[in-house]
Amino acid sequence: MTQIDLIGIGAPIVDSVAQVPETFLAQISGAKGGMELINDEIMFSILGKLPAPPVEASGGSAGNTIQCATRLGLKTSFIGKLGNDAAADFYRENFRKVGVDVTRFKRAELPNARCLALVTPDSQRTMRTNLGASLTLSPADVTVDDFANCRHAHFEGYLLFNRELALHLLKCAKQTGCSISLDLGSHEVVTANRELLPQILAEYVSLLVANEDEAAVLTGLDKNHSEQTALALGNYCNTTVLNLGKNGSLIAANGELHRIPVNLVENPVDTTGAGDSWLAGFLYGWLNNNPLAVSGRYGAILGAEVVQQVGASIPEARWVEIKRQIAAI
Ligand SMILES: Nc1ncnc2c1ncn2[C@@H]1O[C@H](COP(=O)(O)OP(=O)(O)OP(=O)(O)O)[C@@H](O)[C@H]1O
Ligand SMILES: [Mg+2]
Repeated sequence: MTQIDLIGIGAPIVDSVAQVPETFLAQISGAKGGMELINDEIMFSILGKLPAPPVEASGGSAGNTIQCATRLGLKTSFIGKLGNDAAADFYRENFRKVGVDVTRFKRAELPNARCLALVTPDSQRTMRTNLGASLTLSPADVTVDDFANCRHAHFEGYLLFNRELALHLLKCAKQTGCSISLDLGSHEVVTANRELLPQILAEYVSLLVANEDEAAVLTGLDKNHSEQTALALGNYCNTTVLNLGKNGSLIAANGELHRIPVNLVENPVDTTGAGDSWLAGFLYGWLNNNPLAVSGRYGAILGAEVVQQVGASIPEARWVEIKRQIAAI
């Protein structure tokens, strides 16, 4: 079995972006601009009414990190549950083409997870998500064998909405001796798991990643005191990253703080996926035994790339330049 540097665990979500006229929103339920969870039936009905086919990409938080890390040269794999439709095949095939080991995907006889962004002429995005097959990943689907020969396992925070599953997966990873990272993913995840998180972090996680909103809920500290918050995060596990958007990142380890500057993009097109791609750059550096500050600068290079694109993926043509910038550090 081939050695895997990094395995991601999360929901394999197909991101679909469709341009629609303002009047289209009148045909769907819910408010403009937000994100709402919908069922299979409603997703199909919206897809069926679109004026033109959507632009699709393989996404998901951990999924984005894994694809970028693979492009940088890490040997990667992924655990998540695909559906049984064309979207599932598209997702798996995309991963295979990028170079991800796709042997650990699970399948369910359900539609694949999909996040549909309806973009109106005013550039606003109205998101509707159907988690479909991805939600049915269960402890019975995954064993320690899925983590065999993996050096590091990266978990997306959304997994914590299913605690039994998350704990099972963390235990499997730990049993095989993987180091573990967790990106908290959203402040809702932290709020729902506020009591449990300190124990999970202490027992399983060696690298914690949070943005300001997530860190504020976890530490109970004010968002305006980022250094204090970053140091407080450091009490939960070995190495912690606090992402501060256009203010860069703060990494805490062994009671010391490292400030990672942003590669500032003045007018970002769309900041979706900034944290996910930042982490791919960081993990690439970290798993190749680079100092934290160097790994963080790799992260900043990737974060700056993705905010110049619509959506969470970085186009093929940019990777030569990204690798040149990394080599120059
Ligand atoms: N305007 C920007 N210009 C350049 N780089 C940026 C910009 N915004 C974010 N980044 C980079 O991306 C990193 C992570 O972004 P951010 O702090 O927004 O994470 P996040 O809130 O977790 O993002 P996400 O919405 O993807 O979860 C930042 O530390 C920075 O390096
Ligand atoms: Mg994030």
